Amino acid sequence: MASLKLTGIVKRFGDVTVLNGLSVEIPLSGLTFIVGKSGSGKSVLCRLAVGLLKPDEGSVELLGERVDQLPERRLVPLRAKVPYLVQGPALLDWLTLEANVALAVQGAPDAARVTRAIDQMGLTALKDRFPPQVGPGIRKRTAIARALVLQPTCLLLDEPTTGLDQIAAGQVNEALEAVRDAGLGALVVSHDYAALSRLADRVVEVRQGVVGYQGGKTGFLDAPK
Ligand SMILES: Nc1ncnc2c1ncn2[C@@H]1O[C@H](COP(=O)(O)OP(=O)(O)OP(=O)(O)O)[C@@H](O)[C@H]1O
Ligand SMILES: [Mg+2]
Repeated sequence: MASLKLTGIVKRFGDVTVLNGLSVEIPLSGLTFIVGKSGSGKSVLCRLAVGLLKPDEGSVELLGERVDQLPERRLVPLRAKVPYLVQGPALLDWLTLEANVALAVQGAPDAARVTRAIDQMGLTALKDRFPPQVGPGIRKRTAIARALVLQPTCLLLDEPTTGLDQIAAGQVNEALEAVRDAGLGALVVSHDYAALSRLADRVVEVRQGVVGYQGGKTGFLDAPK
């Protein structure tokens, strides 16, 4: 099974222990919502998953590879399989949306893959616009299209709708459905419980340094908070 497997993860920053023996195996298929209070360590978990941070203790396996032990050059192809989309702006304002998507394949341009990703994200009619000429939901979809060009197994999205208005958030959530319909997985860090209740195939909650809940969305939404 393609998965992200974290075992006994301890991660400290100075005196602060953010993750304290966290273990979880998350399938990379379907839509997994990763939730938890602000500061609980969700972004730290994302960065550990793709080797941008190393744990103080424990192991990180992504697609069967020991991310915490791999040299940087071997992490590069793995990050193409599970692209990490950070929060905030990710596009170059002076390039069209299409050119921004094509940046993913610099050096080996593959026009068909770029066209397909743009189509999958519903951007065909907008591809010649520049980022400042479209709304934040479309900009996020463009960033997702750029990740799709890499032909990933699963996307890792850190708060893709935080700070967006309802329309923009709706555009991003539609994109998540398109990702799932295309047979790809997504791990989505989110505070958007409306989207979670509609879209999540499973939920992982980070709480006090460990996993507080893992399972279906109904069990999560019905549990006392
Ligand atoms: N590079 C760093 N140096 C020091 N402390 C850090 C660093 N990265 C994260 N932290 C701390 O680790 C804790 C968890 O941070 P993280 O960003 O993972 O939280 P989060 O769950 O993503 O929160 P949010 O929902 O606000 O994005 C916080 O207390 C944060 O200050
Ligand atoms: Mg975060």
